[in-house]
Amino acid sequence: MAEELIIASTADKAERYATLVPQIESLVTGEPDLVANLSNIAAALRQTLNFFWVGFYLVKNDQLVLGPFQGPIACTRINFGKGVCGTSWKEKKTILVPDVEAFPGHIACSSASKSEIVLPAFKNGEVALVLDVDSDVLNDFDDTDQRELEKVMRIIETLL
Ligand code: SME
Repeated sequence: MAEELIIASTADKAERYATLVPQIESLVTGEPDLVANLSNIAAALRQTLNFFWVGFYLVKNDQLVLGPFQGPIACTRINFGKGVCGTSWKEKKTILVPDVEAFPGHIACSSASKSEIVLPAFKNGEVALVLDVDSDVLNDFDDTDQRELEKVMRIIETLL
């Protein structure tokens, strides 16, 4: 595993992701512990993309439960179909929210959060966890974030 991330010294988001995604793959290679891997992935994403909050919620029984994250403290449990995370779980798809105030039922863990993207990872066709990324800037996520973070989810699925 790499001991230090190589972060592209460019403001170009696509280039930062292009440098990061292969490093995430090598970061998790050979490490079987899911919590260790999710912890490093959350840190790598925050370090590279400067996200306000980035972390995982894991499906445990009938709820999403907070997992490894980077950023301010957050809600610990989210019900099926609730908030952006619970909706991603229920609808089994990525949800991109340009303005959290405009998303019915959005769960405000922090009043500083303005836009958000949530992506599911699947095990045997069911959602096993979601990645939640929050920004303190409106409309901060786009197709590049969705495409690149979905690559990260596919890497995570190899660990599940
Ligand atoms: N806003 C999320 C809750 C999790 S926090 O943002 C970390 C939601 O609506 O599901």
